[in-house]
Amino acid sequence: MIKEAMLSLAQQQSIKHFMMFHPAGRRVARRFVAGEALDEAMDVTRTLNARGISVSLDHLGENVGDAEEAQATAAEYAATLDRIHAEQVEANISIKLTALGLDVDSDLCRANVAQVLKRARQHRIFVRVDMEGSAYTQRTLDLVADLRCEFDNVGTVLQTSLYRTPRDLEALIASRTRVRLVKGAYLEPVTLAYAHKADVDEQYVRLLRELLERGTYPAIATHDERIITDACDYAGRHEIARARFEFQMLYGIRRDLQERLAGEGYNVRVYVPYGTQWYPYLTRRMAERPANLMFVVSNTLRG
Ligand code: FDA
Repeated sequence: MIKEAMLSLAQQQSIKHFMMFHPAGRRVARRFVAGEALDEAMDVTRTLNARGISVSLDHLGENVGDAEEAQATAAEYAATLDRIHAEQVEANISIKLTALGLDVDSDLCRANVAQVLKRARQHRIFVRVDMEGSAYTQRTLDLVADLRCEFDNVGTVLQTSLYRTPRDLEALIASRTRVRLVKGAYLEPVTLAYAHKADVDEQYVRLLRELLERGTYPAIATHDERIITDACDYAGRHEIARARFEFQMLYGIRRDLQERLAGEGYNVRVYVPYGTQWYPYLTRRMAERPANLMFVVSNTLRG
């Protein structure tokens, strides 16, 4: 309910304009976004690497409406891959299919993703295809399955909010596709997704255990300390080596926990978004935690 209200409020042009152009809005964005330029994202990457934490770089953007923009995004990702390789930082990339043209034409999108994967393969870099709203779930899984016939450096994301996810997880485990497990950031209808957080969390714990047992280098992507503790305990009890999985968290959230886990010898990767198209990403972070609104208010009062 709160998530719904927050996301629809964020659609209002006046709020979007305030957040994008008022210094307070931009200050809030900087808590969750590394910066607008790749240089800034690389600085953040080096800082995290120095703390023993690896990175997944996300060039922000989604739902592009024309082919040129989608091709420009693919070119931007190629440049990012070249920088990761040239500077030898510990990083991979996360991409969104709608940023690479899925809404425009699926063949165009496939060609753009293949171009990114080819460059990533040259540099031996892994590419994660983020999961967007449920309108894209099947198309994302189909495209990833198709690309895996040609590329072994691609994996994707499953959301435990969706009822369908246990079936999808089985298919990805069987095809040895790397899975990042998340709760799900999008507003979904009750016909497709659990309405109560307790059910999403319960499904998360169940599926993360399946992944730890049988998955291919799974990524447990959450800031939920109870679930993280469960994963550590489960791996310990079942003698699943720490090198066989990683924890992932978002830039700007629970830095203390990121550093503690890395200090304890777990693999930790932080998702670092950058670019000028940060507004939709920021609204999802706000909707996840209404307390973040206080952060907006206090920044606004600071002028
Ligand atoms: P939960 O929402 O229960 O939060 C647990 C605790 O984490 C909170 O109590 C709070 O302390 C902290 N926290 C969580 N969100 C916060 C916020 N916004 N601000 C401040 N503190 C916060 N989703 C998706 O649909 N597709 C995707 O591809 C991805 N990709 C992705 C990558 C990575 C690396 C992560 C960590 C997450 C995603 N997500 C995602 C987002 C995910 O679906 C989910 O919305 C967020 O991770 C928040 O849920 P938690 O699991 O942290 O739990």
